Amino acid sequence: MRVPTGMSRALLRHAPFVSYTAEASGVYTTDLDGNRRIDFHGNYAALVHGHAHPAIVGAVRAQLPRGSAYSCPATQELTLAEQLCGRIRSMERVLFNNSGTEAVAVALRAARALTGRTRIAKFEGGYHGFSDFVMVGAHGLPEIDDPVSVTVPHADTGGLPPAAIHDVVLIRYNDAAAVRAAMGRYGPELAAVIVEPMLGSGGVIPAEPEFLRALREETTRAGVVLICDEVITLRQAYGGLQSAYGLEPDLTTLGKIIGGGFPIGAVGGRADVMRMFEDAQDGGQVANLGTFSANPISLTAGKVALDLLDADAIAQLNQLGERAQHGLRGVIERHRLRAQVTGLGSMFQIHWTDRPVRDARAADTADPDLKLLTFLGLANRGIQTSTRGMCCLSTPMQETHIATLVDAFEDTIKALLHDGWGERMRRHEEKGLGGRPPSA
Ligand SMILES: Cc1ncc(COP(=O)(O)O)c(C=O)c1O
Repeated sequence: MRVPTGMSRALLRHAPFVSYTAEASGVYTTDLDGNRRIDFHGNYAALVHGHAHPAIVGAVRAQLPRGSAYSCPATQELTLAEQLCGRIRSMERVLFNNSGTEAVAVALRAARALTGRTRIAKFEGGYHGFSDFVMVGAHGLPEIDDPVSVTVPHADTGGLPPAAIHDVVLIRYNDAAAVRAAMGRYGPELAAVIVEPMLGSGGVIPAEPEFLRALREETTRAGVVLICDEVITLRQAYGGLQSAYGLEPDLTTLGKIIGGGFPIGAVGGRADVMRMFEDAQDGGQVANLGTFSANPISLTAGKVALDLLDADAIAQLNQLGERAQHGLRGVIERHRLRAQVTGLGSMFQIHWTDRPVRDARAADTADPDLKLLTFLGLANRGIQTSTRGMCCLSTPMQETHIATLVDAFEDTIKALLHDGWGERMRRHEEKGLGGRPPSA
């Protein structure tokens, strides 16, 4: 095998073996054995219009013979920039690169350049791509955190420089008191705080309004750049999830859906912060680079994807998502399962735990075996989700696809109960037990 583990993307590995995709169209993916599945994974929420949407394919087909990457800028970036600044209130300027990872990396640099400070803060369970300074504290959180609820970060990957751990302050998600305590202690040292308005990879856990309010207040007070990472959440409200909370960050990072299925990232925000990317004589200090940054294919596809994702399309998608969540919760109630569904609108996650899931620590208590068995059970019944139980809807989906998901979930549950997993799956209220299953 020439590719280590057989695949380049570590997150796509799972037991007992992986199925390679042969092709995908609309809501369906087909693997090499010809098994067709409804795609509730959507490449980690990137494919908001499903696979090969005809309008996007048409626009990209028209662009391809005109070139896929230029030696000078393409005007399509000005168009997409207008579109994004028109949607996102806090965004006066924006620039593009190739991934959410890159967008976050340059956003952090801009914050350091602006403030002259080095350290940054992020939240437990927060995933912001795979650059050094954000690959800490997403998983395997220690059981006890310190008296001000600030946790010593630990590496999520080998090979990080020690500074990536030292320079990061890790704060508990959805804990306004922890935010105030951490900012009181570290605020003057911080260049930026980066936050997802809904913890995505950490469990699809919506932020509580008071938490974001405290964060905005404290970062303003301490002169810290607040970066709202909307790489995964722009799909949830026309102006990004920040608009639903009334949050006005200094910078916003984007990716996924704004590329219409092609690689992209973007960082944007208030003009005085984005000034860091101007020429030196205009106060700029930070370079955004990349051979394929702002290529006309991603920008063309992204424009069409955003045109299609207007306020009505988002409302419909979110309604469908609420119905799916309702259906899954119905199954959980009917079978008295030690499980719950978290999420908002078109994105949600099944958690095999009875600890209320408000943060990544609670999500981490989920039973890993039941998580994997549910994922495989759904896959065997024609439903593709992420291994950790995250589901994302796409605009071509209909009620029938939602009904199929809910039926497949119930069928999976029945099969697992039949196979003797009941003790691990069922609530133990009558015996007064709670918390983690003994073997998890
Ligand atoms: C919130 C968030 N930020 C950043 C990223 C990184 O984006 P990319 O995978 O395009 O590098 C992701 C990817 O899942 C994400 O969910």
